[in-house]
Amino acid sequence: MDTLAKRITGLTAPSSVKRFLLVTSQIMEWNRSMICDLKQNLSKESFTAVVFDGVEPNPTTDNIEQGKIVYGAEECDGVIAFGGGSPIDASKIIADETRASIFITIPTTSGTGSEISPWSVITAAGSNEKISLCTRIPDLALLDPQLTITMPPALTFSTGMDAFSHAVEAYVSSSSNGFTDGLSFESMQLILRSFKAAVKDGRNLDARKDMQEASLLAGAAMMHAGLGLSHAMANTIGGFYHGSVHGWLIAQTLEAVCDFNRDAVPDKYRRIEPIVKQVMTQAGQMVENLSLTRDVLEKDHFKSIVEKSTSNVNSTTNPRKFTKEDLEKLLNSCFEWKCKS
Ligand SMILES: [Fe+2]
Repeated sequence: MDTLAKRITGLTAPSSVKRFLLVTSQIMEWNRSMICDLKQNLSKESFTAVVFDGVEPNPTTDNIEQGKIVYGAEECDGVIAFGGGSPIDASKIIADETRASIFITIPTTSGTGSEISPWSVITAAGSNEKISLCTRIPDLALLDPQLTITMPPALTFSTGMDAFSHAVEAYVSSSSNGFTDGLSFESMQLILRSFKAAVKDGRNLDARKDMQEASLLAGAAMMHAGLGLSHAMANTIGGFYHGSVHGWLIAQTLEAVCDFNRDAVPDKYRRIEPIVKQVMTQAGQMVENLSLTRDVLEKDHFKSIVEKSTSNVNSTTNPRKFTKEDLEKLLNSCFEWKCKS
């Protein structure tokens, strides 16, 4: 934390930034001490910080409005996002709309890649509309694997699956190119090497470092190449079920989407198939060890989920063209659907 705070000083030196809005999720036991530590180290560098911890998983427009109010009331002039994808996504819009002088991201999970991208996935309050917005690019992303070692195994699993899906979907995307292929492929290799170890032993710093780097590389690939149907479906479902876990939704869809897309880009799949197979086998064992169960979704939402997934921005770069019927089959094979009792 000491070094991170010093990096912030280095970056803000020419500006007049003094007070940060520190945006995070509801502070859980395992990251509360990290927030205290960061605040202390910022104060050593002559900054003050006010914590806004009102960001929910799958953040809403209401969360953003509340954050903007705190920013204004506390007379902040910069924004630091601290945590996983949700606070980082919400912070981008807070920083953009308050015209913060500086916007810094400090990820404590390894999966979203959101720390370097301008993309933000937000749910419109009071609706099931999950929208992807292109907003402010962070001025600085500070990555320290030490900050990820307290992530519990289930979160390490879901964020790892998210990173892996970014790499795979960006690699086969219809907008991929040599640059994004290199980023994605390296990311997949790092995940193959260290995913299992990071879930098994959270304090394994080498594995944590690999996963953090893999997330970053996949995030950079995704930023340029876009994603595919796994994200079109998972992001849509996340809008309907606000407590759902993005990486777990992805884990339930990725294999079926790979099977669906394989023939559209056979050469690409041939190259990554051995890695995908091994990682999915590892993932299957982790699901068993973590006792994760398939999500049960409401039949009443089925039609809307099909429609919204079809128009979701991620579906535009899926390598294979699809029909509504294809999507219905995929959703039926990936999730359990039940009538509301
Ligand atoms: Fe994702």
